[in-house]
Amino acid sequence: MSAHNIAVIGGDGIGTEVVEAGVRVLEALAETQPGLSFTFKSFDWGSDYYRANGRMMPEDGLAQIAGFDAIYFGAVGDPNLPDDITLWGLRLAICQGFDQFANVRPTRLLPGLTGPLRPELGKQIDWVIVRENSEGEYAGVGGRAHRGLPIEVGMDVAVFTRAGIERIARFACELASSRPRKLLTVVTKSNAQRHGMVLWDEVVREVIHGYPDLTVDWMLVDAMTQRMVNKPGSIDTVLATNLHADILSDLAAALGGSLGIGSTANIDPSRHRPSMFEPIHGSAFDIMGKGIANPLGSFWTASLMLEHLGEPSSARALMQAIELVTSRREHLSPDLGGAANTAQVTDAVIAALRGDNR
Ligand code: NAI
Ligand code: MG
Repeated sequence: MSAHNIAVIGGDGIGTEVVEAGVRVLEALAETQPGLSFTFKSFDWGSDYYRANGRMMPEDGLAQIAGFDAIYFGAVGDPNLPDDITLWGLRLAICQGFDQFANVRPTRLLPGLTGPLRPELGKQIDWVIVRENSEGEYAGVGGRAHRGLPIEVGMDVAVFTRAGIERIARFACELASSRPRKLLTVVTKSNAQRHGMVLWDEVVREVIHGYPDLTVDWMLVDAMTQRMVNKPGSIDTVLATNLHADILSDLAAALGGSLGIGSTANIDPSRHRPSMFEPIHGSAFDIMGKGIANPLGSFWTASLMLEHLGEPSSARALMQAIELVTSRREHLSPDLGGAANTAQVTDAVIAALRGDNR
């Protein structure tokens, strides 16, 4: 089997810290899994690159990474640069440039972790949120006019297209069908937003017709937040728009124990271009450079990457190592109530992969 070619973009702040840890873990995994190997190439794109070059990545950045099998990404965001420059200049430029229209975010309460919900509720969390990742509220359409004047205006136009809704609905239906409960919750807000969200409902309903084995229910996004907290066991696969799923998935990550565990995959299901795997958190100004970031989100997303690369047994082995470490509770980072730093959590996961600490 040939080596998987991975483009590594740490980005900014703790993004680089957790991705370096993740590469160490993947290298250790390759040593324990027959036939598994990687070649990593790192790209120093991000805010420091911007300060030196006036752009977050080179002009031909997308072309430089288009030939890789996957992109392993950290986070962007800098205390001294506007977020719209950093985010649009790198992360969104890749997601949109490669048409990674399906964003997949699993949440489970890992063994040993408690999270903020009562234990009997927290244990019920086993969700996958599917986020439309190419249009909707984050389409980037809009404008500013009359700057500085009392009549100044700023607009973001939410863009919903039949093609865009159809393809994400199909992706969510396929994913829900592949999970044991075959249960899909569609999130909407068509009571208040009368155009795009109504089209969303109509097209999703058409696609669902093709999946008679699925159980489907519908939720308004505001009500969905309370259902996630009060009845977590009633949810399995969730389909939501770009904005709604962005918010719901941070809630999901918090209910799952910490933002530092949340992981996500930005997928081009056509596989014409590489997909991108990242922890859901940002560059975390408050802890960057301290070496205490929780790397588990970047490990979990590495497991999602392995699944995408057609390495399900390696993906499982990595998840099992992560779960062994959380269940023992000896090497947890401060966000999970522990005292371990990034390197110690990483070492513990590597030891678990090697079977050193059984
Ligand atoms: P953040 O996710 O960076 O941090 C929020 C809080 O969670 C902070 O208190 C942080 O210390 C904590 N936290 C996050 N990840 C952690 C980890 N792995 N271990 C321990 N604690 C962790 O979100 P925030 O503060 O809103 O944004 C900071 C910067 O990151 C901004 O510039 C923002 O635009 C950017 N950002 C980038 C994202 C990306 O590249 N995908 C996603 C979210 C934010
Ligand atoms: Mg977010």
